[in-house]
Amino acid sequence: MRALTERAWAKLNLSLDVLDRRPDGYHDMRMVMQTVSLCDEVRLEALDAGGIRLKTSFSYLPADRRNLAWRAAELFFSELSKPPGGLAISIQKRIPVGAGLAGGSADAAAVLRGLNTLLGAGKTLAELERLGGRLGSDVPYCVAGGTRLATGRGEILEDLPPLPPCGVVICKPAFSIRTPELFGRVDQRQGNIRPDTDGIVSALEEGSLGGVARRMYNVFEEVLPARCAEIGLLRKRLVDEGALGAVMTGTGSAVFGLFPDPEAARRAAEKLGKSCRECFAARPVARFPETLP
Ligand code: C5P
Repeated sequence: MRALTERAWAKLNLSLDVLDRRPDGYHDMRMVMQTVSLCDEVRLEALDAGGIRLKTSFSYLPADRRNLAWRAAELFFSELSKPPGGLAISIQKRIPVGAGLAGGSADAAAVLRGLNTLLGAGKTLAELERLGGRLGSDVPYCVAGGTRLATGRGEILEDLPPLPPCGVVICKPAFSIRTPELFGRVDQRQGNIRPDTDGIVSALEEGSLGGVARRMYNVFEEVLPARCAEIGLLRKRLVDEGALGAVMTGTGSAVFGLFPDPEAARRAAEKLGKSCRECFAARPVARFPETLP
């Protein structure tokens, strides 16, 4: 095989808690993660020579070492005794950038998975997750996705029962939020409201979509700068359009709502898309390798 295409699924946080700041500057987290059908497509082609080449359909994204997908290929090659002379990576982007949807991490994870298949390297998913941890905190989760509890920096992963079938609407405001800025604000916060992560896990065990949706919570929403008021408004609009619950994902700025079924989500996305340019209907995607291509 000389070429293949991998899907890179967007990640949502059904809950997000920041525990302590660690001596290494990172924070210990506790998060319930979910992959959804909104995805980039990552095409890999092994070449005899030429090093790593990257192009993406978003012209403003870096197409060199600054791009995590490029660094994923470089890291994977460093693990091989005989790496190929060249690799062409071509990314069809759909996941909004600067949204808290882990688009860059998902692309990097897709490169790791894809190279493993393309080059017949035979690494296990757990090995790919460990490699991913050297690229970024969200990359290990993105290797296999699904419904997982993530702790530590985000790299300690535990399978959870799948999110019951439902529809999802994702809305990304025009602005983005800098991740380190929000972590800094969380360190200064006064209150101590915590998401009911254990309650979400119980609701997943019971197969209760409503139980998950009404407990969704992200501590970063408590510390949003005033200029981010649109996030609260979008959350309200999602609920007004029939979402069972709505919350910001990661460090934002995207907000999503869970709907009883994909058709309800599609109708809501059509309405919300009139005022929010980046608005998508999606559905949950199961953990790889159960996921069908
Ligand atoms: O790991 P990654 O490069 O994605 O993290 C980006 C930034 O987010 C880090 O430099 C750090 O400021 C913050 N971060 C954190 N704790 C985590 C994950 C990320 O403080 N668990």
